[in-house]
Amino acid sequence: MANPSLLILPGDGIGPEVMEQVKRVIGWFGDKRGLAFDVSEDLVGGAAYDAHGTPLHDDTMAKALEVDAVLLGAVGGPKYDDLDFSVKPERGLLRLRKEMDLFSNLRPAQCFDALADFSSLKKDIVAGLDIMIVRELTSGVYFGEPRGIINEGNERVGINTQRYTESEIDRVARSAFELARRRSGKVCSMEKANVMESGILWREVVQKVHDDDYPDVELSHMYADNGAMQLVRAPKQFDVILTDNLFGDILSDCAAMLTGSLGMLPSASLGAPAANGRPKALYEPVHGSAPDISGQGKANPIACILSFAMALRYSFDQGDEAARLEAAIEKVLADGARTADLMGEEGGTPITTSEMGDVILAALDASL
Ligand code: IPM
Ligand code: MG
Repeated sequence: MANPSLLILPGDGIGPEVMEQVKRVIGWFGDKRGLAFDVSEDLVGGAAYDAHGTPLHDDTMAKALEVDAVLLGAVGGPKYDDLDFSVKPERGLLRLRKEMDLFSNLRPAQCFDALADFSSLKKDIVAGLDIMIVRELTSGVYFGEPRGIINEGNERVGINTQRYTESEIDRVARSAFELARRRSGKVCSMEKANVMESGILWREVVQKVHDDDYPDVELSHMYADNGAMQLVRAPKQFDVILTDNLFGDILSDCAAMLTGSLGMLPSASLGAPAANGRPKALYEPVHGSAPDISGQGKANPIACILSFAMALRYSFDQGDEAARLEAAIEKVLADGARTADLMGEEGGTPITTSEMGDVILAALDASL
């Protein structure tokens, strides 16, 4: 049987630096665990714009639709701020999400014991935190029509539309309930049903999917603004949070920061299962391109490496190997390995991106 295929899109800013370390980890699993992947690499975001005048070439899009999983670094940077909206780096990522139909975005926010002191919240509020945000990723205000900037009388009007069909809500709700069954069996759905019709429909459909097919899962509903407040007040009350595209964008950054560093958090964006049973999938760190530190060896590669761990688990059915990789990361953190983003008040000398890669590979070797 052919090896499973991976398309690597390092992108912009720190994307290529952190992806270098992921490539070493992928190589390790091939050499030491007999898990060989056919890896190809291509451009996305500003890097693709520089080469082709578009943030995602059609050939790259076609490849992304063929492979078993896509690994993406990050897109964007100040160099591209003045580009026309239609060719901004972010459009490349949004096109991938839309055309691969990656409707379910899993964003875990997990607080590693060794890092509980780094959170801006008190240690006992975040220690042991392990929540999963399921964000709808292919609809809502990100894609709704009509949209644009139009002239009306003597001024301009900016328009975006929040739009959800029942089936769009239904499928992402199912993915959240399925996940909850494999975790603590609890889902909290967040919208603004108090002011938005799309929120009313969201709440109704989520409740119906629950009542019809997942009555064993504990379901609650919360307004998204209250949800944001509860996330910083008492985050451990949550297990799976289900929410729409825009609220999910905001709530997941908020949840991410509870864990101390954005440099730690992976994500998986999953679509419907293909003929081979694997879902269409794209894995990417939650952090962005961090242009302020790019090219300096300062970036933390852990979020991107953990994204590969999610690929092992969700695309390749290698949960044990994913756990091996996660344990190696936990081990190096417990041993005190720190990139610059993880330096606490006590100071010390941070290690570089590639040194973090070195210690993770050593911990993987030690796990054999
Ligand atoms: C994210 C990012 C993206 C989003 C941008 C880069 C388009 O903020 O993945 O959270 O808004 O979805
Ligand atoms: Mg975001």
